[in-house]
Amino acid sequence: MFLPSRVTVRVPATSANLGPGFDCLGLALKLYSTFEVELLPGDLVRDHEPLVEISSAWGDDPAIDALPADHRNLFYQTLARRLADLEMPVPEMKVRAIIGIPPGRGLGSSATAVIGGLLTAEAIAGRTHSEKQRAGLVDAAVELEHGSHSDNVAAALLGGLVVTTRDERSCAWYTVRAPLPPNVRAVLFVPVFPMDTIAGRELLPAQYTKADAVHNLGHLALLLATLAVGDLEGVGAAMNDRLHEPYRARIFPQMPGLLAAARSAGAHGACLSGSGSAILALTTERTQEVASALAQAARSLNVDGRVVIADLDHCGATVEIDQCRPRVEISTSTREESALSCTSCGRRFPLGRTDYRCSCGQPLDVALDDTGMARDGDALRQCFDERLSSLDALDRSGVWRFRELLHLSSVEPITRPEGQTNLYPAGRALQNNGHGRVGEFTGLDRLWLKHEGENPTGSFKDRGMTVGVSVARWLGAGAVACASTGNTSASMAAYAAQAGLRAIVLLPEGKVAAGKLSQAIAYGAEIRQVAGDFDRAMADVERMCMDEGVYLLNSLNPFRILGQQSLAFELLQQFAWDVPDWIVLPAGNLGNTSALGMGLVRAQRLGLVDRLPRIVPVQAAGANPFYQSYVEGFTAFHPVKAHTIATAINIGDPVSYLRAKSVIQATNGLVAQVTDEEILEAKATVDRVGIGCEPASAAPVAGVKQHVTRGIIQPTERVVAILTGNLLKDPDAIMLAHQPTGQTLTGARL
Ligand code: F0G
Repeated sequence: MFLPSRVTVRVPATSANLGPGFDCLGLALKLYSTFEVELLPGDLVRDHEPLVEISSAWGDDPAIDALPADHRNLFYQTLARRLADLEMPVPEMKVRAIIGIPPGRGLGSSATAVIGGLLTAEAIAGRTHSEKQRAGLVDAAVELEHGSHSDNVAAALLGGLVVTTRDERSCAWYTVRAPLPPNVRAVLFVPVFPMDTIAGRELLPAQYTKADAVHNLGHLALLLATLAVGDLEGVGAAMNDRLHEPYRARIFPQMPGLLAAARSAGAHGACLSGSGSAILALTTERTQEVASALAQAARSLNVDGRVVIADLDHCGATVEIDQCRPRVEISTSTREESALSCTSCGRRFPLGRTDYRCSCGQPLDVALDDTGMARDGDALRQCFDERLSSLDALDRSGVWRFRELLHLSSVEPITRPEGQTNLYPAGRALQNNGHGRVGEFTGLDRLWLKHEGENPTGSFKDRGMTVGVSVARWLGAGAVACASTGNTSASMAAYAAQAGLRAIVLLPEGKVAAGKLSQAIAYGAEIRQVAGDFDRAMADVERMCMDEGVYLLNSLNPFRILGQQSLAFELLQQFAWDVPDWIVLPAGNLGNTSALGMGLVRAQRLGLVDRLPRIVPVQAAGANPFYQSYVEGFTAFHPVKAHTIATAINIGDPVSYLRAKSVIQATNGLVAQVTDEEILEAKATVDRVGIGCEPASAAPVAGVKQHVTRGIIQPTERVVAILTGNLLKDPDAIMLAHQPTGQTLTGARL
């Protein structure tokens, strides 16, 4: 998890009601309280006494002196409660609260603490928010304010003039910024005495007459309309309230005199701010005159207080996050919440950790506890099979259809939908149509081609990406990044665009096929060309994500691997839960091999199938570190300098080596290598039957042929080759694959 070293939130004062807008209207003012949280290095701990240092930017004020400087502090309480809601432990911290808004004057001082705490917690949890998403925080803020002051919290969050009200049917808060004329300013008179909100509420009648209610409704509508059209003449009359001001005047008898003074000095309108005690006057030109008139009236009415001129705040609370401190170690006290685990050393980490390498350096996996699943294999199969005829978007996704196996029920899916790719029968004995020519080429009677290039962005990557991007948004990431040989970047760019996230892709310069690069550009990703190969880009992106707090979406990301497991589930479902003998697929960074194997092993454990197929990852001979390690009995692993025409798998130092090794061992699998010539020959065959695929996707077809020839795969065995990418991804390769034989093809494009 990236923890910032410091979060500073500045929250504006707010004036609620503006006369008739009782409990639903708030106006943000340029008067601020600032909360600075310094996160102390070290372990995350749960119940420590926070250090809260309170200073006043308002001057001497007994109400500021009385604010608690320990765990009872409202800012801290809100921060801790929000972190608990987000299932985050409370880090050890030092809080500095610089209070610029005196409490108890109707200027939203408690809302500043609540919004400050809420936004600080969001920042600590790595969540940033667009304006629209901020409006969605009103619910949480009101709840944290114990159901009150929605008008203040909404205006403090969004800035400007804000209407907020709760719809009874949906129980949702609707929050909208209303238009304001330019140049409007506020003049405040802030008495030295506070007015307790609760005592002020008790003055109000239990019931109102219809006439009073209708009066206020009309005046509120008038106020919003006059402000929207800039008719400042009408504002004064519109601010006339019958529901609260007259009653509160009973404990603030000088209020009417102060309001009258402001109005007669040229204020467009004046009212009690919130439930008092401050007075708010709106002005454009006659600001100084109104300020002097208020000061003079206060003197003559014997009210002690201060006049303040404040512009309106149009931005709402601001959040500044200081330099991330990467790789914060998590203490044992958080272990029980852990949901990521290291397959190599077994250490566990919280689900929210975004550094997806363990402290031992190996990638983390999502620790899935399938034991709690209420269903057995039959019930699960039935549930998944019933969804095949559903029109629901999630059921139509070949990933989210298996959502019980994702264990991500609180994550809102970003889906196209994906998956649902064809399984083409292409064996000699299966079809008497042209597809059977692939069976003839490989020497297989029962061969199927599962075309993952039929995913929405044209490659298998969409399966993992729908889950990865959904989790990115769930974690509140603002930007996502990946290094890529092309397909990952195209997929990430598309899903990030759908999720409204910034996408950054690092590409090995000159080594990405045209179709893929065009997609990333078209979908709006920021392209950074890396002078080097994929392995270099991969190292760069990991560092960049660490340094800049960007969310990493390479297959190092365990949620991508989790989503990618659906390839296994969908394939088995297409076989009516009968298991083929072999599944053969191209291998580069080894994410797909790992995910397929993990999915198959889980499917067997869950009782979805009763045995496992043998998995065969196929590497290009020029990019074969996994093959070499396999040949050496997995006793060693040496990265290579990769060089193959199949740019998608031009990878010399795969990230998921250990995961893939376990998969080969668990499925009694093999690892193969094929030359670029063999790849192009297989590609030409798949293309010519009218299916087509990109070069890397033809590697398994070439691998199958080779293994049938060598007698390792029997001609009658049931074999599935995974075509991972669409034909159109790499148009340049088509020419090479269909050149007359006998030419040297290896390295022609590298
Ligand atoms: N096939 C295609 C078409 C690919 O794009 C990739 C990987 C693979 C196979 C290999 O899968 O890496 O999981 O072993 N492409 C990545 C990318 C590296 O950036 O698009 P893997």
